[in-house]
Amino acid sequence: MKLLLLGSGGREHALAWKICQSEKIDKLFVAPGNAGTTDIPANDRVGEHTFAPCENVNIKVNDFDAIRDFVLANAIDMVVVGPEDPLVNGVYDFFKADQRLASIPVIGPSKAGAVLEGSKEFAKGFMQRHDIPTAAYRAFSADNLEEGYRFLETLQPPYVLKADGLCAGKGVLIVPTLEEAKKELAQMLDGMFGQASAKVVIEEFLSGIECSVFVITDGKNYKILPEAKDYKRIGEHDTGLNTGGMGSVSPVPFADDEFMKKVEDRIIRPTVEGLAAEGIDYKGFIFLGLIRVDRNYSCAKAGDPMVIEYNVRMGDPETETVMLRLKSDIVELFEGVAEGNLAQKSLEIDPRSAVCVMLVSGGYPEKYDKGFPISGIDQVDGSVVFHAGTALKDGQVVTAGGRVIAVSSYGADKAEALQKSFTEAKKINFEKRYFRSDIGADL
Ligand code: AMP
Ligand code: GLY
Repeated sequence: MKLLLLGSGGREHALAWKICQSEKIDKLFVAPGNAGTTDIPANDRVGEHTFAPCENVNIKVNDFDAIRDFVLANAIDMVVVGPEDPLVNGVYDFFKADQRLASIPVIGPSKAGAVLEGSKEFAKGFMQRHDIPTAAYRAFSADNLEEGYRFLETLQPPYVLKADGLCAGKGVLIVPTLEEAKKELAQMLDGMFGQASAKVVIEEFLSGIECSVFVITDGKNYKILPEAKDYKRIGEHDTGLNTGGMGSVSPVPFADDEFMKKVEDRIIRPTVEGLAAEGIDYKGFIFLGLIRVDRNYSCAKAGDPMVIEYNVRMGDPETETVMLRLKSDIVELFEGVAEGNLAQKSLEIDPRSAVCVMLVSGGYPEKYDKGFPISGIDQVDGSVVFHAGTALKDGQVVTAGGRVIAVSSYGADKAEALQKSFTEAKKINFEKRYFRSDIGADL
Protein backbone atom coordinates (compact mmCIF):
# COMPACT_ATOMS: atom_id res chain seq x y z
CA MET A 1 0.00 0.00 0.00
CA LYS A 2 0.97 3.65 -0.42
CA LEU A 3 0.77 5.95 2.53
CA LEU A 4 0.98 9.73 2.90
CA LEU A 5 2.30 11.20 6.16
CA LEU A 6 1.74 14.90 6.90
CA GLY A 7 4.37 16.88 8.79
CA SER A 8 8.05 17.81 8.81
CA GLY A 9 9.55 17.41 12.27
CA GLY A 10 11.42 14.83 14.31
CA ARG A 11 8.11 13.23 15.19
CA GLU A 12 7.35 12.68 11.52
CA HIS A 13 10.82 11.30 10.77
CA ALA A 14 10.35 8.82 13.63
CA LEU A 15 6.88 7.86 12.38
CA ALA A 16 8.25 7.52 8.84
CA TRP A 17 11.11 5.32 10.08
CA LYS A 18 8.61 3.04 11.78
CA ILE A 19 6.09 3.03 8.91
CA CYS A 20 8.81 2.16 6.38
CA GLN A 21 9.63 -0.97 8.39
CA SER A 22 6.16 -2.37 7.70
CA GLU A 23 6.00 -5.13 5.12
CA LYS A 24 2.63 -3.74 4.09
CA ILE A 25 4.14 -0.53 2.73
CA ASP A 26 5.30 -0.21 -0.87
CA LYS A 27 5.97 3.49 -0.66
CA LEU A 28 5.69 6.28 1.88
CA PHE A 29 5.31 9.93 0.92
CA VAL A 30 5.92 12.68 3.48
CA ALA A 31 4.47 16.16 2.97
CA PRO A 32 6.51 18.27 3.28
CA GLY A 33 9.06 16.16 5.22
CA ASN A 34 12.66 17.16 5.92
CA ALA A 35 16.15 16.05 4.89
CA GLY A 36 15.79 12.92 7.03
CA THR A 37 12.62 11.67 5.42
CA THR A 38 14.33 11.65 2.01
CA ASP A 39 17.04 9.45 3.39
CA ILE A 40 15.37 6.51 5.11
CA PRO A 41 17.91 3.93 4.09
CA ALA A 42 15.98 1.79 1.63
CA ASN A 43 18.80 -0.75 1.71
CA ASP A 44 18.52 -1.23 5.49
CA ARG A 45 17.04 -4.54 6.44
CA VAL A 46 14.29 -5.24 8.95
CA GLY A 47 14.38 -8.97 9.53
CA GLU A 48 13.81 -10.55 6.13
CA HIS A 49 12.79 -7.47 4.17
CA THR A 50 14.07 -3.96 3.45
CA PHE A 51 12.70 -0.58 4.53
CA ALA A 52 10.09 0.74 2.11
CA PRO A 53 11.19 3.76 0.07
CA CYS A 54 10.26 7.21 1.32
CA GLU A 55 9.88 10.40 -0.69
CA ASN A 56 9.13 14.00 0.23
CA VAL A 57 6.32 15.89 -1.48
CA ASN A 58 6.39 19.66 -1.49
CA ILE A 59 2.91 20.25 -0.05
CA LYS A 60 2.08 22.20 3.11
CA VAL A 61 0.12 20.35 5.81
CA ASN A 62 -2.79 22.81 5.68
CA ASP A 63 -3.12 22.89 1.89
CA PHE A 64 -6.02 20.44 1.77
CA ASP A 65 -6.73 20.96 -1.94
CA ALA A 66 -3.15 20.08 -2.85
CA ILE A 67 -3.28 17.08 -0.50
CA ARG A 68 -6.49 15.88 -2.18
CA ASP A 69 -4.99 16.23 -5.65
CA PHE A 70 -1.85 14.35 -4.65
CA VAL A 71 -3.79 11.55 -2.93
CA LEU A 72 -6.00 11.04 -5.98
CA ALA A 73 -3.20 11.30 -8.53
CA ASN A 74 -1.00 8.81 -6.66
CA ALA A 75 -3.66 6.35 -5.48
CA ILE A 76 -2.73 6.84 -1.81
CA ASP A 77 -4.33 4.21 0.46
CA MET A 78 -4.04 5.93 3.82
CA VAL A 79 -3.16 9.33 5.30
CA VAL A 80 -1.45 9.72 8.67
CA VAL A 81 -1.46 13.16 10.25
CA GLY A 82 1.58 14.15 12.33
CA PRO A 83 0.92 17.65 13.72
CA GLU A 84 -2.21 19.11 15.33
CA ASP A 85 -2.76 22.02 12.95
CA PRO A 86 -4.37 20.18 10.02
CA LEU A 87 -6.48 18.16 12.48
CA VAL A 88 -7.80 21.26 14.20
CA ASN A 89 -8.43 22.69 10.72
CA GLY A 90 -10.52 19.63 9.84
CA VAL A 91 -8.45 17.49 7.45
CA TYR A 92 -10.34 14.36 8.60
CA ASP A 93 -13.70 15.97 7.83
CA PHE A 94 -12.37 17.28 4.49
CA PHE A 95 -11.71 13.69 3.43
CA LYS A 96 -15.05 12.39 4.71
CA ALA A 97 -16.94 15.12 2.86
CA ASP A 98 -15.42 14.31 -0.54
CA GLN A 99 -16.86 11.25 -2.29
CA ARG A 100 -13.54 10.48 -3.97
CA LEU A 101 -11.66 10.57 -0.66
CA ALA A 102 -14.22 9.28 1.83
CA SER A 103 -13.01 5.67 1.67
CA ILE A 104 -9.36 6.60 2.29
CA PRO A 105 -8.62 6.31 6.00
CA VAL A 106 -7.21 9.36 7.77
CA ILE A 107 -5.38 8.51 10.99
CA GLY A 108 -6.24 11.44 13.25
CA PRO A 109 -9.44 12.69 14.86
CA SER A 110 -12.24 14.68 13.29
CA LYS A 111 -12.34 18.44 13.80
CA ALA A 112 -14.77 17.89 16.70
CA GLY A 113 -12.22 15.58 18.35
CA ALA A 114 -9.25 17.82 17.65
CA VAL A 115 -10.92 20.51 19.77
CA LEU A 116 -9.54 18.56 22.74
CA GLU A 117 -6.24 20.21 21.84
CA GLY A 118 -7.59 23.21 19.93
CA SER A 119 -9.49 24.62 22.89
CA LYS A 120 -8.28 24.39 26.47
CA GLU A 121 -11.73 25.43 27.66
CA PHE A 122 -13.37 22.57 25.75
CA ALA A 123 -10.80 20.10 27.13
CA LYS A 124 -11.43 21.23 30.70
CA GLY A 125 -15.20 21.01 30.22
CA PHE A 126 -14.84 17.54 28.71
CA MET A 127 -12.81 16.34 31.70
CA GLN A 128 -15.33 17.83 34.08
CA ARG A 129 -18.24 16.12 32.28
CA HIS A 130 -16.50 12.75 32.44
CA ASP A 131 -15.05 13.01 35.91
CA ILE A 132 -11.46 12.91 34.71
CA PRO A 133 -9.04 14.29 37.31
CA THR A 134 -7.65 17.70 36.33
CA ALA A 135 -6.90 21.07 37.93
CA ALA A 136 -9.87 23.22 39.01
CA TYR A 137 -10.37 26.05 36.51
CA ARG A 138 -12.48 28.83 35.08
CA ALA A 139 -12.43 30.45 31.66
CA PHE A 140 -12.58 34.21 31.03
CA SER A 141 -12.91 36.59 28.10
CA ALA A 142 -12.43 40.37 27.84
CA ASP A 143 -16.09 40.79 28.91
CA ASN A 144 -15.44 39.42 32.37
CA LEU A 145 -11.89 40.51 33.09
CA GLU A 146 -12.89 41.79 36.55
CA GLU A 147 -14.30 38.36 37.42
CA GLY A 148 -11.01 36.90 36.27
CA TYR A 149 -9.17 39.14 38.75
CA ARG A 150 -11.53 38.02 41.55
CA PHE A 151 -10.95 34.36 40.63
CA LEU A 152 -7.16 34.85 40.69
CA GLU A 153 -7.54 36.30 44.21
CA THR A 154 -9.06 32.99 45.37
CA LEU A 155 -6.04 30.96 44.15
CA GLN A 156 -2.66 30.30 45.67
CA PRO A 157 0.54 31.17 43.75
CA PRO A 158 1.94 30.30 41.31
CA TYR A 159 -0.85 31.19 38.87
CA VAL A 160 -1.46 29.22 35.68
CA LEU A 161 -2.91 31.11 32.70
CA LYS A 162 -3.59 29.36 29.41
CA ALA A 163 -4.58 30.81 26.07
CA ASP A 164 -7.64 28.84 24.97
CA GLY A 165 -6.47 28.24 21.39
CA LEU A 166 -3.39 26.82 19.64
CA CYS A 167 -0.19 28.81 20.26
CA ALA A 168 2.52 26.43 19.03
CA GLY A 169 3.23 25.43 22.63
CA LYS A 170 3.71 29.00 23.88
CA GLY A 171 0.29 29.78 25.30
CA VAL A 172 0.80 28.75 28.93
CA LEU A 173 2.10 31.25 31.49
CA ILE A 174 3.04 30.29 35.03
CA VAL A 175 3.32 33.44 37.06
CA PRO A 176 4.68 33.81 40.61
CA THR A 177 2.70 36.78 41.96
CA LEU A 178 -0.95 37.86 41.94
CA GLU A 179 -0.04 41.28 40.59
CA GLU A 180 1.78 39.79 37.59
CA ALA A 181 -1.00 37.28 37.04
CA LYS A 182 -3.56 40.08 36.75
CA LYS A 183 -1.31 41.99 34.37
CA GLU A 184 -0.72 38.93 32.19
CA LEU A 185 -4.42 38.07 32.16
CA ALA A 186 -5.29 41.55 30.90
CA GLN A 187 -2.58 41.36 28.23
CA MET A 188 -3.58 37.89 27.10
CA LEU A 189 -7.20 38.97 26.71
CA ASP A 190 -5.95 42.04 24.86
CA GLY A 191 -4.45 39.89 22.10
CA MET A 192 -1.05 38.76 23.40
CA PHE A 193 -1.54 35.54 21.41
CA GLY A 194 -3.99 36.99 18.91
CA GLN A 195 -7.34 35.20 18.62
CA ALA A 196 -5.92 32.22 20.54
CA SER A 197 -6.01 34.20 23.79
CA ALA A 198 -9.41 35.85 23.27
CA LYS A 199 -10.36 33.38 25.99
CA VAL A 200 -8.07 32.42 28.86
CA VAL A 201 -8.31 29.42 31.15
CA ILE A 202 -7.06 30.09 34.67
CA GLU A 203 -6.37 26.96 36.65
CA GLU A 204 -5.07 25.68 39.92
CA PHE A 205 -1.32 24.95 39.93
CA LEU A 206 -0.52 21.25 40.18
CA SER A 207 2.65 20.19 41.89
CA GLY A 208 4.37 16.96 40.88
CA ILE A 209 6.31 15.26 38.10
CA GLU A 210 5.07 15.05 34.51
CA CYS A 211 4.97 12.30 31.93
CA SER A 212 3.35 11.73 28.55
CA VAL A 213 1.08 8.77 27.89
CA PHE A 214 0.07 7.85 24.35
CA VAL A 215 -3.03 6.01 23.25
CA ILE A 216 -4.17 4.94 19.82
CA THR A 217 -7.90 4.43 19.39
CA ASP A 218 -10.42 3.40 16.74
CA GLY A 219 -13.09 5.29 18.69
CA LYS A 220 -14.13 2.27 20.71
CA ASN A 221 -11.06 0.17 21.47
CA TYR A 222 -7.67 1.52 22.43
CA LYS A 223 -4.07 0.46 22.90
CA ILE A 224 -1.68 2.13 25.31
CA LEU A 225 1.71 2.86 23.71
CA PRO A 226 4.91 3.23 25.75
CA GLU A 227 4.89 6.29 28.01
CA ALA A 228 7.72 8.83 27.90
CA LYS A 229 9.02 11.88 29.69
CA ASP A 230 10.13 14.93 27.78
CA TYR A 231 12.42 17.75 28.83
CA LYS A 232 10.95 21.11 27.89
CA ARG A 233 13.32 23.74 29.25
CA ILE A 234 16.38 24.89 27.31
CA GLY A 235 18.75 24.81 30.29
CA GLU A 236 20.22 22.01 32.36
CA HIS A 237 18.21 21.04 35.44
CA ASP A 238 15.02 22.38 33.85
CA THR A 239 15.99 26.04 33.81
CA GLY A 240 15.43 28.80 31.27
CA LEU A 241 12.85 29.15 28.54
CA ASN A 242 10.43 26.50 27.32
CA THR A 243 11.29 24.78 24.06
CA GLY A 244 9.55 22.28 21.83
CA GLY A 245 11.43 19.57 23.75
CA MET A 246 15.12 18.88 24.36
CA GLY A 247 14.99 15.13 24.77
CA SER A 248 12.92 12.23 26.02
CA VAL A 249 13.13 9.00 27.94
CA SER A 250 10.98 5.86 27.83
CA PRO A 251 9.97 4.01 29.97
CA VAL A 252 9.35 6.39 32.87
CA PRO A 253 10.27 4.66 36.13
CA PHE A 254 7.51 6.24 38.25
CA ALA A 255 4.84 5.19 35.72
CA ASP A 256 4.73 1.72 37.24
CA ASP A 257 1.89 -0.80 36.93
CA GLU A 258 -0.08 0.67 39.82
CA PHE A 259 0.19 4.21 38.42
CA MET A 260 -0.65 3.07 34.87
CA LYS A 261 -3.70 1.17 36.11
CA LYS A 262 -5.01 4.41 37.62
CA VAL A 263 -4.22 6.20 34.36
CA GLU A 264 -6.20 3.62 32.41
CA ASP A 265 -9.17 3.42 34.79
CA ARG A 266 -9.52 7.10 35.65
CA ILE A 267 -8.28 8.80 32.49
CA ILE A 268 -7.91 6.69 29.35
CA ARG A 269 -11.13 4.67 29.50
CA PRO A 270 -13.31 7.63 30.51
CA THR A 271 -11.71 9.68 27.72
CA VAL A 272 -12.38 7.14 24.97
CA GLU A 273 -15.87 6.41 26.31
CA GLY A 274 -16.56 10.12 26.76
CA LEU A 275 -15.64 10.87 23.14
CA ALA A 276 -17.95 8.09 21.94
CA ALA A 277 -20.77 9.20 24.27
CA GLU A 278 -20.52 12.74 22.89
CA GLY A 279 -20.74 11.41 19.32
CA ILE A 280 -17.22 12.56 18.45
CA ASP A 281 -15.53 10.69 15.60
CA TYR A 282 -12.04 9.90 16.89
CA LYS A 283 -9.67 7.55 15.09
CA GLY A 284 -6.13 8.40 15.95
CA PHE A 285 -3.66 9.20 18.69
CA ILE A 286 -4.49 10.70 22.07
CA PHE A 287 -1.59 12.22 23.96
CA LEU A 288 -2.23 12.64 27.67
CA GLY A 289 0.00 15.19 29.33
CA LEU A 290 -0.10 13.85 32.88
CA ILE A 291 1.30 14.82 36.23
CA ARG A 292 1.84 12.51 39.18
CA VAL A 293 0.84 14.95 41.88
CA ASP A 294 2.87 15.07 45.05
CA ARG A 295 0.10 16.30 47.31
CA ASN A 296 -3.66 15.81 47.67
CA TYR A 297 -6.14 17.62 45.43
CA SER A 298 -9.92 17.49 45.49
CA CYS A 299 -9.97 14.85 42.72
CA ALA A 300 -6.69 13.00 43.33
CA LYS A 301 -4.41 11.94 46.14
CA ALA A 302 -0.66 12.38 46.35
CA GLY A 303 0.92 9.87 43.94
CA ASP A 304 -2.10 9.79 41.62
CA PRO A 305 -2.25 10.93 37.99
CA MET A 306 -4.02 14.11 36.90
CA VAL A 307 -4.37 15.51 33.39
CA ILE A 308 -2.50 18.69 32.49
CA GLU A 309 -3.55 18.68 28.86
CA TYR A 310 -4.74 16.64 25.92
CA ASN A 311 -3.05 16.64 22.55
CA VAL A 312 -4.58 14.94 19.54
CA ARG A 313 -1.31 13.71 18.00
CA MET A 314 1.92 12.10 19.11
CA GLY A 315 4.42 14.11 21.15
CA ASP A 316 7.69 15.52 19.92
CA PRO A 317 10.36 14.49 21.04
CA GLU A 318 8.53 11.59 22.73
CA THR A 319 7.81 9.88 19.39
CA GLU A 320 11.56 9.65 18.84
CA THR A 321 11.73 7.21 21.77
CA VAL A 322 8.23 5.66 21.65
CA MET A 323 8.76 4.45 18.05
CA LEU A 324 11.96 2.69 19.08
CA ARG A 325 10.04 0.74 21.72
CA LEU A 326 7.04 -0.19 19.56
CA LYS A 327 7.77 -3.64 18.20
CA SER A 328 4.43 -4.25 16.47
CA ASP A 329 3.84 -3.21 12.88
CA ILE A 330 2.46 0.33 13.19
CA VAL A 331 0.61 0.02 9.88
CA GLU A 332 -1.30 -2.98 11.29
CA LEU A 333 -2.36 -0.76 14.17
CA PHE A 334 -3.40 1.98 11.73
CA GLU A 335 -5.49 -0.58 9.83
CA GLY A 336 -7.12 -1.58 13.11
CA VAL A 337 -7.93 2.08 13.74
CA ALA A 338 -9.37 2.52 10.26
CA GLU A 339 -11.40 -0.69 10.31
CA GLY A 340 -12.58 -0.41 13.91
CA ASN A 341 -10.98 -3.71 14.93
CA LEU A 342 -8.01 -2.42 16.90
CA ALA A 343 -8.89 -4.86 19.70
CA GLN A 344 -7.81 -7.73 17.45
CA LYS A 345 -4.35 -6.28 16.80
CA SER A 346 -1.41 -7.17 18.95
CA LEU A 347 0.76 -4.59 20.65
CA GLU A 348 4.28 -5.64 21.47
CA ILE A 349 6.64 -3.36 23.36
CA ASP A 350 10.43 -3.61 23.49
CA PRO A 351 11.46 -3.95 27.14
CA ARG A 352 14.66 -2.01 26.55
CA SER A 353 14.99 1.67 27.42
CA ALA A 354 15.04 4.29 24.69
CA VAL A 355 16.18 7.89 25.01
CA CYS A 356 16.60 10.79 22.65
CA VAL A 357 18.87 13.81 22.93
CA MET A 358 17.94 16.82 20.82
CA LEU A 359 20.65 18.87 19.13
CA VAL A 360 19.44 22.44 18.76
CA SER A 361 20.61 25.67 17.12
CA GLY A 362 22.52 28.09 19.39
CA GLY A 363 20.15 30.84 20.54
CA TYR A 364 17.02 28.66 20.33
CA PRO A 365 14.27 29.07 21.57
CA GLU A 366 14.99 32.75 20.96
CA LYS A 367 16.64 34.13 17.84
CA TYR A 368 18.95 31.73 16.00
CA ASP A 369 20.49 31.38 12.54
CA LYS A 370 19.75 28.64 10.01
CA GLY A 371 21.57 27.16 7.05
CA PHE A 372 24.68 25.81 8.84
CA PRO A 373 26.10 22.63 7.26
CA ILE A 374 25.74 19.54 9.47
CA SER A 375 28.60 17.07 9.55
CA GLY A 376 29.16 13.70 11.15
CA ILE A 377 25.74 12.11 10.72
CA ASP A 378 27.39 9.29 8.77
CA GLN A 379 29.78 8.67 11.70
CA VAL A 380 26.94 7.72 14.04
CA ASP A 381 27.00 4.06 14.88
CA GLY A 382 24.20 2.17 16.58
CA SER A 383 21.93 5.14 17.35
CA VAL A 384 19.04 6.29 15.20
CA VAL A 385 19.36 9.84 13.88
CA PHE A 386 16.01 11.57 13.44
CA HIS A 387 16.00 14.88 11.64
CA ALA A 388 13.82 17.59 13.20
CA GLY A 389 14.77 20.88 11.52
CA THR A 390 16.99 20.10 8.56
CA ALA A 391 16.94 20.79 4.83
CA LEU A 392 19.01 19.79 1.83
CA LYS A 393 20.96 22.61 0.16
CA ASP A 394 23.01 21.64 -2.89
CA GLY A 395 23.18 18.07 -1.65
CA GLN A 396 24.37 19.12 1.84
CA VAL A 397 22.23 18.66 4.97
CA VAL A 398 21.89 22.05 6.69
CA THR A 399 20.13 23.33 9.80
CA ALA A 400 16.63 24.62 9.09
CA GLY A 401 15.04 25.02 12.51
CA GLY A 402 15.60 25.49 16.22
CA ARG A 403 15.48 21.81 17.02
CA VAL A 404 17.75 20.19 14.44
CA ILE A 405 18.45 16.51 15.12
CA ALA A 406 17.32 13.92 17.66
CA VAL A 407 19.81 11.20 18.49
CA SER A 408 17.83 8.18 19.72
CA SER A 409 19.31 5.09 21.32
CA TYR A 410 18.40 1.84 22.97
CA GLY A 411 20.00 0.56 26.14
CA ALA A 412 19.50 -2.29 28.56
CA ASP A 413 18.59 0.52 30.95
CA LYS A 414 18.22 4.29 30.81
CA ALA A 415 21.85 4.93 31.80
CA GLU A 416 23.19 2.77 28.98
CA ALA A 417 20.85 4.35 26.43
CA LEU A 418 21.82 7.85 27.58
CA GLN A 419 25.51 7.14 27.41
CA LYS A 420 25.05 5.87 23.87
CA SER A 421 23.05 8.94 22.77
CA PHE A 422 25.51 11.41 24.30
CA THR A 423 28.50 9.64 22.72
CA GLU A 424 26.88 9.58 19.29
CA ALA A 425 25.44 13.12 19.62
CA LYS A 426 28.97 14.52 19.99
CA LYS A 427 29.87 13.15 16.56
CA ILE A 428 27.31 15.41 14.87
CA ASN A 429 28.44 18.98 14.42
CA PHE A 430 27.16 22.29 13.18
CA GLU A 431 27.92 25.87 14.16
CA LYS A 432 26.57 26.77 17.64
CA ARG A 433 25.19 23.27 18.24
CA TYR A 434 23.79 22.83 21.75
CA PHE A 435 22.23 19.95 23.67
CA ARG A 436 21.29 19.27 27.24
CA SER A 437 23.59 16.79 28.89
CA ASP A 438 21.24 16.10 31.82
CA ILE A 439 18.38 14.37 29.96
CA GLY A 440 16.95 11.65 32.18
CA ALA A 441 19.12 12.65 35.15
CA ASP A 442 16.10 13.56 37.33
CA LEU A 443 14.47 10.13 37.09
P1 AMP B 1 0.32 22.72 28.38
O1 AMP B 1 0.58 23.45 27.09
O2 AMP B 1 -1.07 22.76 28.87
O3 AMP B 1 0.96 21.35 28.37
O4 AMP B 1 1.21 23.44 29.45
C1 AMP B 1 2.60 23.57 29.27
C2 AMP B 1 3.31 23.21 30.52
O5 AMP B 1 2.91 24.09 31.57
C3 AMP B 1 3.00 21.82 31.05
O6 AMP B 1 3.75 20.84 30.46
C4 AMP B 1 3.30 21.99 32.50
O7 AMP B 1 4.69 21.90 32.74
C5 AMP B 1 2.87 23.39 32.79
N1 AMP B 1 1.50 23.41 33.32
C6 AMP B 1 0.36 23.53 32.64
N2 AMP B 1 -0.71 23.50 33.45
C7 AMP B 1 -0.24 23.38 34.70
C8 AMP B 1 -0.84 23.29 35.99
N3 AMP B 1 -2.16 23.36 36.17
N4 AMP B 1 -0.04 23.15 37.05
C9 AMP B 1 1.31 23.09 36.89
N5 AMP B 1 1.94 23.18 35.71
C10 AMP B 1 1.18 23.31 34.62
N1 GLY C 1 6.48 17.08 23.88
C1 GLY C 1 5.31 17.82 24.04
C2 GLY C 1 4.50 18.00 22.83
O1 GLY C 1 4.72 17.37 21.81
O2 GLY C 1 3.56 18.80 22.87
